[in-house]
Amino acid sequence: MPKPIHVGLIGTKFMGRAHSNAFSQVAHFFDLPLAPVLQIAVGRNAKELAAFAGKWGWQQITTRWQDLCEDDELDLVDVATPNDVHAEPAIALLEAGKHVACEKPLAGTLADARAMRDAAKKAKRSKTFVWYNYRRCPAVALAHQLVKEGRIGRVYHVRATYLQSWGGPSTPLLWRFQKEAAGSGAHGDLNAHIIDMCRFVTGEELTEVHGAVARTFVEERTIPGTKKKGKSTVDDAVLFLASLSGGGVASFEATRLAAPHQNANSLEVNGEKGSLRFDFEDMNLLRFHDATRGPREGGWTRIMCTSAAGKHPYAGQWWPDAHVLGYEHGFVNMLADVLRVLGGEKPEVPLPDFEDAYQTQRVLEAALLSAKERCAIKLSAVK
Ligand SMILES: NC(=O)c1ccc[n+]([C@@H]2O[C@H](COP(=O)([O-])OP(=O)(O)OC[C@H]3O[C@@H](n4cnc5c(N)ncnc54)[C@H](O)[C@@H]3O)[C@@H](O)[C@H]2O)c1
Repeated sequence: MPKPIHVGLIGTKFMGRAHSNAFSQVAHFFDLPLAPVLQIAVGRNAKELAAFAGKWGWQQITTRWQDLCEDDELDLVDVATPNDVHAEPAIALLEAGKHVACEKPLAGTLADARAMRDAAKKAKRSKTFVWYNYRRCPAVALAHQLVKEGRIGRVYHVRATYLQSWGGPSTPLLWRFQKEAAGSGAHGDLNAHIIDMCRFVTGEELTEVHGAVARTFVEERTIPGTKKKGKSTVDDAVLFLASLSGGGVASFEATRLAAPHQNANSLEVNGEKGSLRFDFEDMNLLRFHDATRGPREGGWTRIMCTSAAGKHPYAGQWWPDAHVLGYEHGFVNMLADVLRVLGGEKPEVPLPDFEDAYQTQRVLEAALLSAKERCAIKLSAVK
């Protein structure tokens, strides 16, 4: 029988729902050492919070996240709040001896991220996790495994793009357009994911940002609930070029103003012996080109990553072949790995902790510095 693990959640909107679904579903699909008890949810509006808790099965509610630090029964707290509300609760919860799973990016600023990384190092008994959920799309996890097995050889070239379309002038001034809350715009929101995916799939670090451009196109937006306009203080698009630790090169692009693209999160890796390509809008597929087959048989092979017999990551826990997975499964798969690790077992593929997510945050910072200073930035200079 799995042992109960008592969980608290801070934040009840988009990620609050995605994570609540994962906490509710995970024990139905995975055999795990621990079974989550949805103990307490935290939000700011008591009425909305009560409705949320009723819908998802959270047993208690509070409007103060500080209450979670004092709750001796709680083992794991999930931080799903805007980026400026990651560091303070995460650090306090680590000091209170809780395990912490935090949404990405680790924080809005490098200073906050560093403080979180340091608190995680200090809190020896607590484990940390960051919801870079795309690692747990089976196709991305398979890409990681194929690179690790040497199937594409030396990595020459990575192309990573994350394009969305919801950030036009009619979108109000949400927290995502305010620097104090978000840290940056499309950059921390979208480039964070593809930097993490690049690091995860290639197993390499970014060593230098050679150049970057950050631009804001929509400078004013309507303040929610009013007719007044306020200033957007974040980027709408950030593009940058980088070097990888194995000597390869990489390009990254993020914008929320790419009109025909809704959630086009793509990664292509071209190597000495082969290539890989993932597109989230076709998330069950991994494209693999095996260059060792020669030009006669070369070209993309379309792998449907849903085969239990093929030992595709996570596939055996879900449905028969090609009964496809969706967005929410990445979160359930991630939570399964979190519970495995907390129960003393191995994750299917590596999980990002605060130290790991701090490395992604350094790259985010280097790209913004490069755009601001109009020069190359070595990662060794960004601490
Ligand atoms: N992993 C992903 O793919 C993914 C997707 C979307 C968002 N995110 C990240 O998740 C986090 C939350 O984003 P979201 O889209 O869910 O935002 P959201 O605006 O939909 O929800 C934010 C929630 O935080 C609550 N909140 C804000 N300040 C609070 C405070 N001081 N105390 C308690 N609760 C507070 C709000 O009431 C709301 O419930 C961000 O860090 C974001 O970058 C990750």
